[in-house]
Amino acid sequence: MRKNIVAGNWKMNNDLPQTEALITDLLKQTKTSNAEVMIAPTAVNLYQAFNATRASNIEVIAQNMHFADNGAYTGEISAAMLKSVGVNTVILGHSERRAYFNETDELLAKKVDAALKNDLRVIFCFGEELADRKAGNEEKVVESQIKNALFHLEASAFKNIVLAYEPVWAIGTGETASPEQAQDMHKYIRKTLNNKYGSQVANDMTILYGGSVKPNNAKEIFSKPDVDGGLIGGAALNAEDFYAIINAF
Ligand code: PGA
Repeated sequence: MRKNIVAGNWKMNNDLPQTEALITDLLKQTKTSNAEVMIAPTAVNLYQAFNATRASNIEVIAQNMHFADNGAYTGEISAAMLKSVGVNTVILGHSERRAYFNETDELLAKKVDAALKNDLRVIFCFGEELADRKAGNEEKVVESQIKNALFHLEASAFKNIVLAYEPVWAIGTGETASPEQAQDMHKYIRKTLNNKYGSQVANDMTILYGGSVKPNNAKEIFSKPDVDGGLIGGAALNAEDFYAIINAF
């Protein structure tokens, strides 16, 4: 089922006291929209965040995970470890993971498989770079990112996948895709899903937009028919801004 979701990706921000303080602020906010609310704190604070939000409608999600079940992967975190601290959703394929940690489509396909095998919902991120858009290749790039990491899956797997279109040139830059650019790409993504899996998978898919979503532009972006919510970076670090975005629905 297609849902409205607003997820805050905290990235490598907020130590434990800051995590507790931001959650306290978030819990004071009022939600008037029907959007599902998620926050992705750093991995070391997931358990604390899970406990602090237990009685609320905020879901605590992870920013990343390894594909292996366990073993000699120093510094890494498995799907089962995330599950054991109350996490049921993981972000995979964020452009910062791709750019700074060399995550490829092939690696991401393995991570997606591991997450689904462990009953984790996946928020799968992808998006073109500025050079791709300037060359008019944005649809081709996005389509290949989706195909390479996801099109080995059965149609039934897609009920546990949320897509997040995040043009790299709009992330953390203050530059947003226009609502029309977001809508055009989301429509194209739905068409790509429809061609491979049919209309039910395509119509039921929740597709988020990410890249400099702020309180002052969220309403216009979310008003587009194929935009089902947002993955929010910078503006998710302030409780009032984050809830202004959530309430933009
Ligand atoms: P931003 O980040 O909102 O700060 O642009 C979005 C993201 O990286 O998910």
